[in-house]
Amino acid sequence: MKKKNFILLIFSLLFLSGRIIWSAETEMTIEKRFLNLPVSKSSDLKTMKLVVNGTAEQEFTIRLAKDVPDYWVFIDVSAYKGKKVKLVVDDATANLSRIYQEDVIAGQDSLYRESKRPQFHFTPKRGWNNDPNGLVYYGGEYHLFFQHNPYDVLWGNMHWGHAVSKDLLHWTEIGEALYPDNLGTMFSGSGAVDINNTAGLQKGPEKTMVVFYTAAGGTSDISKDKPFSQCMAYSNDKGRTWIKYSGNPVLPNVVAENRDPKVFWHQPTNKWVLVVYEKDGHSIYTSPNLKNWQRESHIANFFECPEFFELPVDGNAKNTRWVMYGASGTYMIGSFDGKTFTPESTKKLYTTGALYAAQTFNDIPASDGRRIQIGWGRISQPGMPFGQMMLFPTELTLKTTPDGIRLFSNPVREIELLKKNEQKWDVLTIQEANEKLGQYGPGELLRIKAKIVLEDFWAGLDLGGNTILKYDANFNLINEIPYFTDNPASMELSMELLIDRTSVEVFIDGGKYSYSLERKPAQNAKGLVFTGNPGLKVQSLEIQTLNSIW
Ligand code: FRU
Repeated sequence: MKKKNFILLIFSLLFLSGRIIWSAETEMTIEKRFLNLPVSKSSDLKTMKLVVNGTAEQEFTIRLAKDVPDYWVFIDVSAYKGKKVKLVVDDATANLSRIYQEDVIAGQDSLYRESKRPQFHFTPKRGWNNDPNGLVYYGGEYHLFFQHNPYDVLWGNMHWGHAVSKDLLHWTEIGEALYPDNLGTMFSGSGAVDINNTAGLQKGPEKTMVVFYTAAGGTSDISKDKPFSQCMAYSNDKGRTWIKYSGNPVLPNVVAENRDPKVFWHQPTNKWVLVVYEKDGHSIYTSPNLKNWQRESHIANFFECPEFFELPVDGNAKNTRWVMYGASGTYMIGSFDGKTFTPESTKKLYTTGALYAAQTFNDIPASDGRRIQIGWGRISQPGMPFGQMMLFPTELTLKTTPDGIRLFSNPVREIELLKKNEQKWDVLTIQEANEKLGQYGPGELLRIKAKIVLEDFWAGLDLGGNTILKYDANFNLINEIPYFTDNPASMELSMELLIDRTSVEVFIDGGKYSYSLERKPAQNAKGLVFTGNPGLKVQSLEIQTLNSIW
């Protein structure tokens, strides 16, 4: 027999007898809170199982480092204390010897002090985030859940990460709320408090918190043959532990990839309303008890992540409108009778740029009454052990403009609490204003308010040599996007800027239009400068330095 055939024969015999090892594994008794795992960006994605008593409790993909890791990720294993846990990865050459247990995560000492960590925006300790999910206020806490890949700085393994805050500024990340299961990985959704216990799930004194999410069937090995469906989970302990409802899915698949349920209580009809993305738009369902849902209507021309809420116009509670938007933020204003949304205007745009899939909080107390939004900031974080970020929370309002009612967005007032110091000037030349800006070096952790008057048809602001604002008053464009001031004969523009380490958010003319972008690394520490042809006047300039939230 030829050597090649002989090797093939041995190989086949070993394979048939199940002796070839395709995977690597390690076993340990859990004594500490975390398992720390080394990750390398250049390793291939492999599937890892965490097996307890013969059952795969968790299954996810990971790029385990073979030698020097780029960063470390962690799994909270406190639930398995005292138990034997086996880690199995489908790569016989994997190096599992560096995985270790500890009561702190690897890198705890430098956590939130990494060189490019945003300093007044939420980012996860480790891993990728995209959409904010389940935004809800309960018992003095704002809950921010988020699409989370705990094991990579890229998208995948969708879990719901979870953080809480008392002031919308300082966030405490408290760990994963929802883990993938055999119905799918955990795609986007919303949260609410079942104040009247309509679902009958309340046990004890705390109201039941509910979250609605999409189980994205087919996005993992264990959910291979399942379709997308809408599911519910609930908590009886202020959101610290989450129980998946035994009757899931509460809304079986309707069309492929229907997803992102937004749920809220509609007082006038005494019903729950659920808006979900289906095919070419958003469908509205109602329910008396969160468990049985009836399809009521559908509105086309929205993609992903529905939002739907009522707002007073110009602060007048007797004159309200409903606002519907999708992940892009383009919105319609109209009315809602509890079943059907009827738009009364064309589709509008209030924000562009990095923001995507923004959601607003449910159950903000009536005494506060604000509609507060958080958006995913599609901003990369090179070299960091996390990817992306959340944008700064904004308050949404409806205001009458010469063109009709429009949605405005402004940073929440809590931002005042971050103020470190502040300087204000009136009526400056462009040279004087640039001198003032120059005192702030490369321009980080700043809040700037300015009102400029153009001396010709374009003016703007650069940061580190990159354009962050260019207003063309002749073609009516801000950074190439159409923008019209309320007074058509005005050469004025006002702006508010929030500048963190990797992001810039810009709010124009009191929030009539806003946008967000990546803050590129400063070139030669050029900092901030007003630009204009031939120049501009700065009517007023206010610069605040901000404290870190960490
Ligand atoms: C929007 C989105 C959602 C989906 C989620 C998955 O960014 O695509 O439609 O639920 O992200 O992570």
